[in-house]
Amino acid sequence: MTTRIAPAAMDDVAARAQTLRRDIDEHNHRYHVLDAPSIPDAEYDALLRELEAIEATHPELASADSPTRRVGGKPFGGFAQVRHDTPMLSLANAFSDAEVGQFVRKIRERLELGDDAPLRFSLEPKFDGLAIALRYEHGVFVRGATRGDGETGEDVSANLRTIKAIPLRLRGGDVPALLEVRGEVYMPRAAFEKYNEGARASGGKIKLLVNPRNGAAGSLRQLDPAITASRPLAFFAYAVGVVDGLDGHHALPPRHSQLLAKLRDWGFPVSSLVATASGADGCLDYFRRIGAQREQLPFDIDGVVYKLDDLRLQRELGYVGRTPRWALAHKFPAQERTTTVQDITVNIGRTGAATPVANLSPVFVGGVTVSNATLHNADQVARLDVRVGDTVVVRRAGDVIPEVVAVVLDRRPERTTAWVMPTHCPVCGSAIEREEGGVVARCSGGLACPAQRVRAIFHFASRRAMDIDGLGERLIEGLVEFGFLQSVADLYALNLGDLLEMKRRADERDGTTPETVKDGKIASKWADNLIAAIAASKHTTLERFLYALGIPEVGQATAKALARHFGRLDALLRADATALLEVPDVGPIMAAHIIAFFAEAHNRDAISQLRAAGVTWTQAQPQREPRGALAGQTFVLTGTLSTLARDAAKEKLEALGAKVAGSVSKKTSVVVAGEAAGSKLDKAHELGVEIWDEARLLAVLAEHGLA
Ligand code: IVH
Repeated sequence: MTTRIAPAAMDDVAARAQTLRRDIDEHNHRYHVLDAPSIPDAEYDALLRELEAIEATHPELASADSPTRRVGGKPFGGFAQVRHDTPMLSLANAFSDAEVGQFVRKIRERLELGDDAPLRFSLEPKFDGLAIALRYEHGVFVRGATRGDGETGEDVSANLRTIKAIPLRLRGGDVPALLEVRGEVYMPRAAFEKYNEGARASGGKIKLLVNPRNGAAGSLRQLDPAITASRPLAFFAYAVGVVDGLDGHHALPPRHSQLLAKLRDWGFPVSSLVATASGADGCLDYFRRIGAQREQLPFDIDGVVYKLDDLRLQRELGYVGRTPRWALAHKFPAQERTTTVQDITVNIGRTGAATPVANLSPVFVGGVTVSNATLHNADQVARLDVRVGDTVVVRRAGDVIPEVVAVVLDRRPERTTAWVMPTHCPVCGSAIEREEGGVVARCSGGLACPAQRVRAIFHFASRRAMDIDGLGERLIEGLVEFGFLQSVADLYALNLGDLLEMKRRADERDGTTPETVKDGKIASKWADNLIAAIAASKHTTLERFLYALGIPEVGQATAKALARHFGRLDALLRADATALLEVPDVGPIMAAHIIAFFAEAHNRDAISQLRAAGVTWTQAQPQREPRGALAGQTFVLTGTLSTLARDAAKEKLEALGAKVAGSVSKKTSVVVAGEAAGSKLDKAHELGVEIWDEARLLAVLAEHGLA
């Protein structure tokens, strides 16, 4: 039985639904397009629920452009084919300044313009996502399609509706009868990272996305729009495909840059990075400016696009084949490339950590030739299932070490085998052992392993440690290989003859001719300098010395804290776990590493030898920082305390070694809640943080004589 509603009341409901739709659209636009939300999420949800309730009881009021329709049903039998009204073309690419110059010159020639006639370009980022076309009839979104082969794409309307940055209804009064907007669907980097974090935690159940572009493409091709809705995709508009039915006075503006502004008015997101400039120089300036920001942008781009701004001139120039003569994509050097894995070897680090490394057919990525890429650890190799012979995607971001990010499984040759970590160190033959519960495998050879010895000596000599100028890794390798260096202490026994002898043997082995100066004399200035640098390093600080020793887990900051706290090396050598735990920032794991390091006979020997060789540092008095009863704990004060001013409470807590912070997080140890405590107390409950009332605080303060 249907409920009969009086016509007047029905009008009210219809009007309410209309208002709700308009308001929800407005909030969506503010949130997803303008990035400036004006109401809390909870209020937005309440509006949406109210509208859903109305539409459920009055199906006759439902409409296709309702914001409740963003997640719809699954299309039957896959995606329908859509023929584009005008083909979706591609852009010609340029990789150099010269090609950009040529592009602009050719336009001038074709348009018979002089060299200095101004030529304006609309400048845009080249978004790295998926091109789509959105069709609006009388201002309402009716269909969206992928680019496909340019002529025919797939109808992915249901999935596009879930993207909140895409308006379901155009804003403003002057909407054309038919409008097709083109642009790029993309996955913001943060969303991509978050997705992969979840995938990693799923233990293989959810597959990792290779990059944000694949993330966007894969999400749009989901048959279930609910899955697309769960992947935060975004959109940028950059062109108009078809417009029809505009009144004469509403004809499109004459410039592309104005068209973009119009799209913005209609409610589409247009990147704030779009700009205009004149001539090739203006284009190249833009390319460099955007290139410099690239790493910081919240989305991936792979270059910039130059479009002649004057739409009439665009039409005059037309197309060659499938690319417009009036536009050009200027690409950044690729930062991801595919290549093949020739071998997977193991690199032994300073503390014996065995890192698998892919030896690659050299490939030019992001401006450098890469022939090795880290695979991090055995778990990562297993996760990616990288095998010798595989084609892999190699990424190099900024100055970060190149890494293998994915395997192209389609190109895997026959008869490959999964990689396993060798059981023995490839350098010294000692067993490789995996730390219990950890991901790191280590060579157990310690300093008997030449690889570890080279790395340890290199670290010892590095700038922030003993600062021995001129002692590079290759020199150390030679000195270790030919038996001149067993341990760091041997450095101080080296003389000029040793260095030259090592060099002679290395030249002989490599078949290189020794560098000579006048009269056939062998060049030896480098050796003189090195001997002087070694001698100069003898006087140092305890902090540098401790850091130079290369104790696992002990970086510069900890070395400094240990030096300050103990003042003298002997005091540190005698320290047990309890004593070490008193040092700020030293926890149980680090304390265990320190004790284990000093317990090793060869480490103690090396220290004695270094001292005997004359390594010294200025002696200092220990500077113990008071470690109060509440050291290491973070407190948050909220609400009003009746007997204690908040500042006084803060001071007293700090006197007991606690940190007092302003907001509650997972790191908070205790929240002290006074009268009328609000959201911080809620947050503490939510996170399960310990909560004290004022009485408890006073009791603890009293216990330590601070009441
Ligand atoms: S304009 C006729 N503008 O690049 C020109 N394309 O090779 C139509 N793209 O598949 C494209 N950012 O996905 C244009 N600001 C931008 C773009 C852009 C990315 C992509 C687009 C297309 C490809 C063209």
